[in-house]
Amino acid sequence: MKHETLEKNIGLMGIFIALVISIAGLVEIVPLFFQLQVTQPAPGVKPYTALELVGRDIYVREGCYGCHSQMIRPLVSETQRYGAYSVAGESVYDHPFQWGSKRTGPDLARVGGRYTDEWHYLHLMKPQNLVPESNMPAFPWLANNKVDGALITQKLKVMRQLGVPYSDQEIARAGQSVADKTEMAALIAYLQSLGMHASKEIQP
Ligand code: HEC
Repeated sequence: MKHETLEKNIGLMGIFIALVISIAGLVEIVPLFFQLQVTQPAPGVKPYTALELVGRDIYVREGCYGCHSQMIRPLVSETQRYGAYSVAGESVYDHPFQWGSKRTGPDLARVGGRYTDEWHYLHLMKPQNLVPESNMPAFPWLANNKVDGALITQKLKVMRQLGVPYSDQEIARAGQSVADKTEMAALIAYLQSLGMHASKEIQP
């Protein structure tokens, strides 16, 4: 086929452009499925506890990702502010991951341990209590809502199907371990876990 035919037929051109882009995409994406660095947990990375997992779902439900990323880029300005840059092996147990790129607020990939639980409580009740110029909304209802203990057993089972190595014992105890906890406590447990599992081993 002459190149001219392609150039003069926009439909055909569209099909060929799509073909070329898909091949380029596959060449970049497919090898990632087989790289251990991407599919295996980084040293020290452990699955979330039942309570942290509940907190993670609240994080997703409340749309925290709309203002917060969880991926520190390998740039000096980022590592000086947030700590060691993120690696893929830190997110193998995240389904779905919360990397994101929208940063109205700071990156949270390593916020665990930076503040006390009480700080997070006061901040989530009313961010302006602690940071007067903050435009983060308040989430006071989390302190009143109780965690649904029946649901967490199912969640852990689904996570196990997706490859997270929860034991039968952990699944059996999950309901009990979140009983009587508030959504606020779960969210704070999740925030305190971010970056804590791996950061020490991963420091570049
Ligand atoms: C409208 C945007 C917005 C939303 C939605 C939002 N935040 Fe924020 N967040 C901010 C901003 C801006 C800051 C920086 C000022 C401050 O500390 O309040 C911040 C700061 C934080 C900090 C402190 C980070 C640090 O390193 O100092 C935490 C933790 C946090 N947010 C958690 C959350 C959680 C959890 C949610 C969801 C329940 C959430 N945010 C939803 C905008 C947002």
